[in-house]
Amino acid sequence: MSKPLPATPLPPDEAPLRHVRQPLPHDSAKRHVTGLAQYIDDIREPEGTLHVAIGQSPRARGRLVALDLDAVRAAPGVVRVLTAADIPGKNDVSPAFGDDPMFAADEISFHGQALFAVVATTRDAARRAATLARVETLHEAPRVTVEDALERGESVLPDYSFGRGDAASVIAGAPVRLEGSLRVGGQEHFYLEGQVALAIPGEEGDVHVYSSTQHPTEVQHVVARVLDIPDAFVTCEVRRMGGGFGGKESQATQWAATAALAARITGRPCKLRLDRDDDFKLTGKRHDFRSDWRIGTDETGRILGYEVDHLARCGYSADLSNGVVDRTMFHSDNAYFMPDVRIGSKRLKTNTVSNTAFRGFGGPQGMLVIEHVLDQVAWAMGRDPLDVRYANLYAPGRDVTPYGMSVEETDTLPALMRSLERSSDYRTRREAIRAFNAGSPVIKRGLALTPVKFGISFTLTHLNQAGALVHVYQDGSVHLNHGGTEMGQGLYLKVAQVVAEEFGIAIERVRITATTTAKVPNTAPTAASSGTDLNGMAARIAAGAIRRRMAAHAAETFGVPEDEVVFRDDRVFAGNESLDFGELAKRCVQSRVQLSEAGFYKTPKITWDRAKGTGRPFLYFAYGAACAEVAVDTLTGEYRVTRVDILHDCGRSLNPAIDIGQIEGGFVQGMGWLTTEELVFDGEGRLRTHAPSTYKIPVASDVPADFRVALYPNTNREETIYRSKAVGEPPIMLANSVFCALTDAVRALDPTRPVPLDAPATPEAVLRACEAMRGRPLG
Ligand code: MTE
Ligand code: MOS
Repeated sequence: MSKPLPATPLPPDEAPLRHVRQPLPHDSAKRHVTGLAQYIDDIREPEGTLHVAIGQSPRARGRLVALDLDAVRAAPGVVRVLTAADIPGKNDVSPAFGDDPMFAADEISFHGQALFAVVATTRDAARRAATLARVETLHEAPRVTVEDALERGESVLPDYSFGRGDAASVIAGAPVRLEGSLRVGGQEHFYLEGQVALAIPGEEGDVHVYSSTQHPTEVQHVVARVLDIPDAFVTCEVRRMGGGFGGKESQATQWAATAALAARITGRPCKLRLDRDDDFKLTGKRHDFRSDWRIGTDETGRILGYEVDHLARCGYSADLSNGVVDRTMFHSDNAYFMPDVRIGSKRLKTNTVSNTAFRGFGGPQGMLVIEHVLDQVAWAMGRDPLDVRYANLYAPGRDVTPYGMSVEETDTLPALMRSLERSSDYRTRREAIRAFNAGSPVIKRGLALTPVKFGISFTLTHLNQAGALVHVYQDGSVHLNHGGTEMGQGLYLKVAQVVAEEFGIAIERVRITATTTAKVPNTAPTAASSGTDLNGMAARIAAGAIRRRMAAHAAETFGVPEDEVVFRDDRVFAGNESLDFGELAKRCVQSRVQLSEAGFYKTPKITWDRAKGTGRPFLYFAYGAACAEVAVDTLTGEYRVTRVDILHDCGRSLNPAIDIGQIEGGFVQGMGWLTTEELVFDGEGRLRTHAPSTYKIPVASDVPADFRVALYPNTNREETIYRSKAVGEPPIMLANSVFCALTDAVRALDPTRPVPLDAPATPEAVLRACEAMRGRPLG
């Protein structure tokens, strides 16, 4: 594994910072590895807690004719069985479009869909009882694949496209024309802590819900909707998740709402923790796509026109597919200027679980297609793909995206890529690989260097807001709370660093506390990588307001101008006087100075007019590039990723240790998506890969043996929190380099043929491609 770099060198104009930019370890790192970090299932259960299990549909599509639950009710330990008829409010747990029933009551839409819930004295009793239902359905043939959905012409949301000029005729008249289709697979989140919620009933219908969610406000709202009570009766709290990765942005609500309903009806605390196999079957995944593309370039490989139609398998309902597929479209250009362009999309409806957010939120899928296409372009004209990539990068005068946003920062990516080209020794290794492959009939090596440009902000503009609540107590300890959730990404620590900086106090004085809708209301999900940008700012605003009041009090007490009061090293300096931060806090309380503040922040500058397909959906872009080398055994399809070099732009990093962790983790997760993780649904719409035995995520031994990760020294030209850049999602797309390197290696078998390889490039898929390249396709 790579060693963390020292902090990004500070530009000379920046005042020395003591807490921000330090490579501090994750605040819970020790508790994560010693088991002392509390997840929902570690919370000591209140006396009398009951357990909930989900009764699932045995069919993927049809009508529910009869649901006989007598045997379930009679099973040992069962206290209550809940169906749609027990829901006092709306039978709807959807995030936006009203199309996700909590319990299917009539129409069955996917295999495993919740029909009822069992509440029992133990989890085991609830799970056993849930299998005893007699379910009678009028079965219909499910639509499972993109092709099934295309044939029936059914979508969860309307088709959408944007673009510029006349791509079709420009491509028709271009000197070089290519077209094709790429399939890009989905991905299971495989968070280590599965979906779980604990609901505790209070007075007069109040309910307190502990939920492993990225979006406490939505859990609050959906629980209120299902129970038909005001939002103010519901509190949702989450200290941390054992990973979310987008899978708990909208899809934690159903389990929280089911637990809350059970608590309401039984009057007892109720917990619902999905079994791992059920979590696979019952919760949505990364969208898989078929993307049909056409490109026209000049003789050097410069893009003249590009057309792509992204056909997304959305599953049975809309969930977040509007935003996810929009982001696929927004990243269809990746880092490349396209003079004439049309980007189309279909959000196809299938009888499979509803696909949802997953790190990159659709962006990775759109980006992989254009990287694959540029490889085809380069190979068609005998150029190195890296040179074709350089030729197409956004540059001054060639700087407007297909959705009308100007790329203002055009210098960063070319410089970053040149730097990586040098530090990875790309050209020398390219030659060495050529020579190696010429003398090696079975083992073929491949190399690729691909960039990432990722837009930062929610494309749904109103989500770009955050709140924070900061209290200073009279001993000088600080209570920090904000709307962001912690899922392992280090958000809580980064925000605590910002607050420690503001008060000039040791980070240990800042008490990080659980996210709750009772302290900060109406929050956005922690998603779109924007957690630190938003909540860091809100917390800084709150802390800054308190500090100014404390400074005013010190200035008055010691007779110095307010701007001469300095907060540093846990002390406050005013003229010749200095006192402990806690001492000043105590004096403030005695003088009735308010030491609590709510901060609020909203992202500036962003506009997006979806109907017109133009605007500025993003405040800025985060950049990065990766160079991956692979070795493929072309007789078995097995391969290794032998070396990876990454250079990534976090602006001025708030915490280089955390950021490097995000880059390494994101890259490896992306590698899993594009190599070993394969979701298989059968013709009946049943997910056949619903456990680690059949679904292979990367493990420690899959991390490239030679893995060199560095931060690119840069700043954020936008006024983000300490000029940092968001880092949560962009690195997943660095793994595109692995897919391109695998394609490059297989191509060495016969450079005159196109490589028939889709994602994921599992060893089986690579073997199929190798055999096809040898002119003997496997059946
Ligand atoms: N890192 C860890 N360890 N666990 C996670 O679940 N989720 C990713 C990313 N990094 C995730 C993670 C996703 S999908 C997003 S959107 C961001 O973190 C969210 O957090 P941030 O906005 O604070 O970066
Ligand atoms: Mo991340 S997919 O925006 O939760």
